[in-house]
Amino acid sequence: MTPFLFSLLGLFPVLWFLHQRRNNLKYKGVQIPPGPKGSFFTGVKDQLSPFPWLQYAQWAEHYQSSVISLRVYNRLLIVLNDHRSVRDLLDKRASIYSDRPKSWMYHELCGRGSSVFNISSQDGRHGKYRRLLKSGLGDGAIREYHDLLESEADVLVQSLAREPEAFQHHLRRNVAAVIMKAAYGYTLTENYDPFISVAEEAAKISGWALAPGRWLVDYYPIVRFIPMWFPFAGFKRQGEAWRRQLESLSDVPHEWVKTQMRQGNFVESFTSRFIQSNNMDDENGEDIVKWAAGGMYAGASDTTVSAMTSFVLLMALHPEVQKQAQREIDDLCGPGKEPSLSDLHSLSYLSALYKEVLRYAPVSNLGKLLPALPHRVIQDDIYECFMIPKDSTVIANTWAILHDPELYPEPSQFNPNRFIDDALIGVGAGSKQPELNPDPRGYCFGYGRRSCPGLQFAEISSLLIMSRVLSRFNVSLPAGTDVPEIEFTPGITSHIKPFDVVIKSR
Ligand code: HEM
Repeated sequence: MTPFLFSLLGLFPVLWFLHQRRNNLKYKGVQIPPGPKGSFFTGVKDQLSPFPWLQYAQWAEHYQSSVISLRVYNRLLIVLNDHRSVRDLLDKRASIYSDRPKSWMYHELCGRGSSVFNISSQDGRHGKYRRLLKSGLGDGAIREYHDLLESEADVLVQSLAREPEAFQHHLRRNVAAVIMKAAYGYTLTENYDPFISVAEEAAKISGWALAPGRWLVDYYPIVRFIPMWFPFAGFKRQGEAWRRQLESLSDVPHEWVKTQMRQGNFVESFTSRFIQSNNMDDENGEDIVKWAAGGMYAGASDTTVSAMTSFVLLMALHPEVQKQAQREIDDLCGPGKEPSLSDLHSLSYLSALYKEVLRYAPVSNLGKLLPALPHRVIQDDIYECFMIPKDSTVIANTWAILHDPELYPEPSQFNPNRFIDDALIGVGAGSKQPELNPDPRGYCFGYGRRSCPGLQFAEISSLLIMSRVLSRFNVSLPAGTDVPEIEFTPGITSHIKPFDVVIKSR
């Protein structure tokens, strides 16, 4: 049976090749973008580095084309390495470039295809999730969370004063506490928290199920028809077990809110407000609220923690930047007084500093082929002289854009002053961007109909954390240590690899 199975699988590269050839003939003279070829069966899978954003940029230079293509097994990846192609395709042609590539293991076997991150843009739920998240996380709704953000910022400062070396743990706790309260009205317990364990368990399983290259079914979906009892069907049995586990995990916080509401002692939250108003105009309304609230935790946790970790580390490396931000806060609030949320819009250097942290150490570098954040194009398309075939996975190399010397002069310099003149400029595809140093929020929160719905929430919570840390503490390198070389962690929420810092009350 095994040789039969493998010869069956071996057929797929051939079919893929024929399909490509047919497309090439259909669009005569128009080729897919250039790029490395790799081996016949696996494509470039074995050449990929853990830091693909650097490798893609090198390939773009080598092939003298900012748009490149590469194949991994039977999947064609199109990588966009400059701001123009990203704007032209992912934003301006968002109606066809906003789908997600399919992970058969995760979406189908584990049943997570309905999650906010993974739902197809062609599914009616996609728009419903986005409208719901916009109304629950947009500028208007954020006012509902002001007290929560302020009180959790106080807790963060106290924890940092008590135990400064555990700063990453405190940041993680702060973000989790804010989002759990905002999404479910749930207050985190001091140390071990059952809801956080549930969320982390779900994230761990998702990571395994999404592991690139691990599941043959992701590349050869036909194997999903193998019966469960079959000797080579371990992946199917595993998928089924994870489906049951993930289903029960994602129900925990939602069911908790409903029980609290029935008992009449609930704290208002994103979930309770939508259940109460019952204005979803949809028979699946409650299910939609459940998935949307789950997306809030998944979207907010690692990203905000990564950005704030990079911020703390960069403050240790750039004392002059730290001093300037502290001076601005002291001038506005008075020495020793902590800024409140209403002060944030007057702190233009802080706003520039936030942008430079996002630019210098972009959170959402592309994970190594992780199918969670890339886009998928739903029909054949022509871009300049290239053909982009239907179903290609399309990846924006945000790191390359934010380190493009033509956009950001001296990109390896950490310099918030580059944003000082436009610190309060708007963001997004429609807003007018300066030619030099464009607002990095227009890139690092994603593109088109998949752009991050938590942008405003992330910004206000991050600015508050940054302002409180700066007003209360000095961050520095331990005395006598050399300035460390900056390295980045691999993965979808990449950040600066931690090194020792000292956080002392001012
Ligand atoms: C510094 C913080 C953050 C960064 C850098 C960030 C970045 C991103 C990026 C790059 C995407 C993918 C966009 C694309 O596919 O083109 C995304 C999606 C998403 N983010 Fe964020 N995010 C942050 C914070 C948040 C917060 C605070 C929330 C919610 C409270 C959130 C919720 C989401 C959700 C639900 C999606 C999925 C959107 C979709 O697929 O339609 N994010 N984010």
